[in-house]
Amino acid sequence: MSSQGMNGILYRSVLLLVITVTLFAPNLSAFTMNVIDNCWRWNPEWRRHRPQLATCSVGYAGKMTNNFGKELIHYKVTDHSDDPINPKPGTLRYGASVIQGKVWITFQRDMHIKLHRPLLISSFTSIDGRGVNIHIAHNACFMIFKASNIIIHGLRIHHCKPQGPGTVMGPEGKLIQLGHVDGDAIRLVTASKIWIDHNTLYDCPDGLLDVTRGSTNVTVSNNWFREQNKVMLLGHDDGFVRDQKMKVTVVYNYFGPNCGQRMPRIRHGYAHVANNLYQGWMKYAIGGSMEPSLKSEANLFIAPQSGSKEVTWRKENLNDDLEKWEFYSVGDVFENGASFRETKSVGAKPNYNMEQMFKVAEAKNVRQLSRSAGALRCSKTSRC
Ligand SMILES: *[C@@H]1O[C@H](CO)[C@@H](O)[C@H](O)[C@H]1NC(C)=O
Repeated sequence: MSSQGMNGILYRSVLLLVITVTLFAPNLSAFTMNVIDNCWRWNPEWRRHRPQLATCSVGYAGKMTNNFGKELIHYKVTDHSDDPINPKPGTLRYGASVIQGKVWITFQRDMHIKLHRPLLISSFTSIDGRGVNIHIAHNACFMIFKASNIIIHGLRIHHCKPQGPGTVMGPEGKLIQLGHVDGDAIRLVTASKIWIDHNTLYDCPDGLLDVTRGSTNVTVSNNWFREQNKVMLLGHDDGFVRDQKMKVTVVYNYFGPNCGQRMPRIRHGYAHVANNLYQGWMKYAIGGSMEPSLKSEANLFIAPQSGSKEVTWRKENLNDDLEKWEFYSVGDVFENGASFRETKSVGAKPNYNMEQMFKVAEAKNVRQLSRSAGALRCSKTSRC
């Protein structure tokens, strides 16, 4: 055979290969997953290996490897009722507050859970709503109080209501007295190593997520925040200086439609806000007070049609040291006239360790990377 004939055959086989790949691969390759999802969503057997999810977290929460292992208890919620003082086996509260040690909580079927008091989640608890449709709604919602190593995944939390003082089963399995709580969807109080991933949060009277009172090492990823004026508060009050140590990663979330402000609002601490999609805002997207540090990296900010196009908001107090303010933007993309007022052009890096580190994608990919933000719909038989 002549070398020309050889080349022809080679050429045609390569062409055929290219055609085959483009025809049959789109379902796979056209759908680029972010690093967290890519770690588990390809696995059709994810139901049999649920705790593997805990190895997929990135950002300040690090890997949630304390949440599984030999002593892990698998607990299934079979009863949607709630008794805050004497929780029944089978209820969410029994699994999250009474059982101590490592617990992996799943749900038997779709459920609408109306909590009568805030749910206090114990350390080493993972709540995994994958594969079912779970609503925590229309009364009290979640609180993590002096606890660590907690995963909240795949829940729809909405229409939470403020709660008056009262008694509730505490995270050590004993009754405690709780004061008044605002109607946040998830409230962290002196909590650490917390991973909040793939939840859909909306329409609560106060905020959706509050990280307060010395809480740190938190990753907020892949959530869908919508229909909410005040979305996320990192650092509860100006006077609480312990929050200077607060470190929070906010990544691959979808904000909107109809979010007003605080995505997030930061006091004192450090937030790395990367690869999020902002579908408009009313007042601002990211704000702060008390000399916080923010690295805004490769987000997509789509300004609202009318009103403020400015992403940031700052409350400067009289005795702020403006030198300490760090609001800076790297690789962000601004659409619809959005603008970002930096206080510095460079600032503190996240300084992640090996298990917290991840590669931030380019902002042009953010639409795709945040496409499946919120609680996932998983097929009965295969992938999520
Ligand atoms: C936060 O994480 C870092 C790195 O893993 C760790 O050194 C530090 O002790 C953690 N802080 C708290 C309060 O858990």
